[in-house]
Amino acid sequence: MTEAVDAPDRPRVILGVGGGIAAYKACEVLRRLTESGHAVRVVPTEGALEFVGAATFEALSGQPVQTGVFEDVPSVPHVKLGQTADLVVVAPATANLIAKAAGGLADDLLTNTLLTARCPVLLVPAMHTEMWEHPATQANVALLRSRGVIVAEPASGRLTGKDTGKGRLPEPAEIVELARLLLARPDALPRDLEGAHVAVSAGGTREPLDPVRFLGNRSSGRQGFALARVAAQRGARVTLVAAHTADLVAPAGVDVVRVGSALELRDAMHSVAAAADVIVMAAAVADFRPLDLVQHKIKKTDRDPDPVALTRNPDILAELVAARRPGQVVVGFAAETGDGETSVIEYGRAKLKRKGCDWLVVNAVGDGRAFEVEDNAGWLLSADGAETPIPHGSKAQLASALWDAVAPTVDR
Ligand code: CTP
Repeated sequence: MTEAVDAPDRPRVILGVGGGIAAYKACEVLRRLTESGHAVRVVPTEGALEFVGAATFEALSGQPVQTGVFEDVPSVPHVKLGQTADLVVVAPATANLIAKAAGGLADDLLTNTLLTARCPVLLVPAMHTEMWEHPATQANVALLRSRGVIVAEPASGRLTGKDTGKGRLPEPAEIVELARLLLARPDALPRDLEGAHVAVSAGGTREPLDPVRFLGNRSSGRQGFALARVAAQRGARVTLVAAHTADLVAPAGVDVVRVGSALELRDAMHSVAAAADVIVMAAAVADFRPLDLVQHKIKKTDRDPDPVALTRNPDILAELVAARRPGQVVVGFAAETGDGETSVIEYGRAKLKRKGCDWLVVNAVGDGRAFEVEDNAGWLLSADGAETPIPHGSKAQLASALWDAVAPTVDR
């Protein structure tokens, strides 16, 4: 007998799968959700089963799979699944499925579930660019969003054939990050950054010493990518200037500019900042770079090596603050360890004053905190003296907390 989702202690997720070629990526979404401790029940459409067999979803979820409302009738799945879920994710959401959801149709188990769900509903579109841009689809998306349904921004890139454009399903890792964010905070993705242009820097700069060596740092870029991702899903136009990062998925709907050194990052930020409403400097910028770039690979010799002479890099955040136009919001980050005399937050307060930005996110680092890890915590300091603790949570949660504070102050 079918229980809605038989998992009293685990977050219950319904994974709806629409009938598009991207249905195969739902298997990876499913795997990642189950591996991170979620109980997942897959509800495909008939069309989805043309692309992926029910057996695959059943094996990966450990739950039965059905598409219609006349199977397993005694357990009333068409009502129970939606009622008992903590989150409904539909990936891929086709143009047809989005239209049905907007119209309130209920002709299969998935559309019935969408009508009975009282939890957050995340629709992740995948379709050809023409279908995404069609006024009918855009009107359906706007209607769903006005009702509180979260319709994700699709990615741009390769579509079914050789064509490319907007409408590609975001990568499974990104879908799961958004799903986990909504499970932690159902109100984390309002469309309150629509009309705003946001520029975010991320990752660690690499300062070249010779053609094969550099001075770098341990920044993974995860926090900056999460800031860009969440801003785009809250409706902003986002440019992400990315220095070196771990192997991260580029956020859907975001323009990414790749840079290497602090000087390259500086040039990229100045050119994008001119048109931005909000600037966020989350990159770990090297304060110093080797004075000379040696043109050949430095060889080891019998004598002691020469010391590496360093010179200061510009303070990009301070430059952006100095160049800002009226109404532009500038956010800095500070990674601090504190010491015997001065605490992390005291260092943060002093840095906010010194840098002159509107907001400063202060993270405690060291002992495995913040760098190269999934989670983050800290304080959000504002130039008007407000200090808000940011509780421990994912980097996407920290990003949401920052956008909650910043969005109402954006002048657009
Ligand atoms: N930053 C910058 N340019 C630099 C160094 C840092 O724009 N050359 C930015 C960072 O992106 C971050 C903020 O300044 O938003 C604070 O970085 P941090 O390294 O904590 O500050 P520093 O000014 O380098 O101070 P210190 O290292 O002495 O703590």
